[in-house]
Amino acid sequence: MNMNNNYLNKPIVLIGMMGAGKSYIGSALAKHFDVEFSDSDKIVEQRAGCSVSEIFERFGEEKFREAEKNAILNLLDKPPHVIATGGGAVTTLSTLEAIKKQAVSVWLNVELEILLERVSGRKTRPLLKNVDVEKKLSKLLHERIGLYRQADIQLDINHDNKHSTLSSLINLLSENLN
Ligand code: S3P
Repeated sequence: MNMNNNYLNKPIVLIGMMGAGKSYIGSALAKHFDVEFSDSDKIVEQRAGCSVSEIFERFGEEKFREAEKNAILNLLDKPPHVIATGGGAVTTLSTLEAIKKQAVSVWLNVELEILLERVSGRKTRPLLKNVDVEKKLSKLLHERIGLYRQADIQLDINHDNKHSTLSSLINLLSENLN
């Protein structure tokens, strides 16, 4: 057994809604554990040579989910590091199963009000284009909550605790790693 607190023996995968802060928290966690950070959306974009929005427009959501799954399966097989996934990644059941089997998964469960503050005004998310953003986010959350709940760790983030998130998560992770 490695006695170093920061040693990572499995990948850490962050799941949760758009605007949950998966990339921000993920890169801070990666620094803490001194490992790489990957973001599945970025990998898909690099491989496709265009943005997630363009992939949705040109090829449709199904093709995006397939590319997302391939990217995540590939990342899970790399040396253990921190992986942020897109909010809908777990809706592909084989992606969710692989995450559950190979990683420590963390659901960033962020209050709807905070999600709304974070995503509004940004035009990069195809599922939030030309819709009532609040209604759409709440519908997606309702559809996905049963999937997110399957994570090993649930971190509840609200207005009161949003600044202490990282240290709480590091504590929770130390109980789930090794
Ligand atoms: C999506 C979330 C996005 C991106 C795509 C679809 C979703 O990622 O993968 O726009 O279905 O919730 P973020 O969660 O990083 O915004």
